[in-house]
Amino acid sequence: MGMRQLAAAVNVISVMADGSPHGMLATAVCSVCAAPPTLLICVNQSASMHRAIRERGHFGVSVLAEHQFETAHHFMSKVASERFTTCDWDTLATGAPALAGALVNFDCEVESEVNVGTHTIYFGRVVALRRAENGPPLLYHDGNYAALGQTPLPGMAAKQC
Ligand SMILES: Cc1cc2nc3c(=O)[nH]c(=O)nc-3n(C[C@H](O)[C@H](O)[C@H](O)COP(=O)(O)O)c2cc1C
Repeated sequence: MGMRQLAAAVNVISVMADGSPHGMLATAVCSVCAAPPTLLICVNQSASMHRAIRERGHFGVSVLAEHQFETAHHFMSKVASERFTTCDWDTLATGAPALAGALVNFDCEVESEVNVGTHTIYFGRVVALRRAENGPPLLYHDGNYAALGQTPLPGMAAKQC
């Protein structure tokens, strides 16, 4: 399927609900604008976190580092309320859980939402961020986890606009 060719960073999106951290793996995460700082996440309406994000009005985004692919597997294999049991995490200002060892933890308040087919796009105002680690990100492409190759490509630095 064509959408498998959309290489993406791998993230854990998270919310605190019923006194417990809940999280799931997500690649449908995108920066929207810097003023005000806003990003979006696309969450399947059948996912256990969908209602929790709507009710709590916040979410965290932890951008996984390349070496965290086992954490990614772990987040896929367990039920949402058990996914934080074997990793280190702490709590951001909104109450959203933050995964330790991530490249960055975004702390977001839900600004608005739009339903598109099976998914809800949540727009989140970034109220705080923590730049935790340096290093390459974990990527997902064509059904597999992937790593960045040589970065940046020689002579191919992106121009800022
Ligand atoms: C690499 C990868 C990326 C994913 N990205 C998303 C995503 O962006 N949005 C989404 O709703 N589900 C995404 N999923 C699926 C959810 O992580 C998975 O269906 C989740 O376990 C469902 O939630 P639940 O088990 O808590 O109900 C992704 C799965 C994988 C393996």
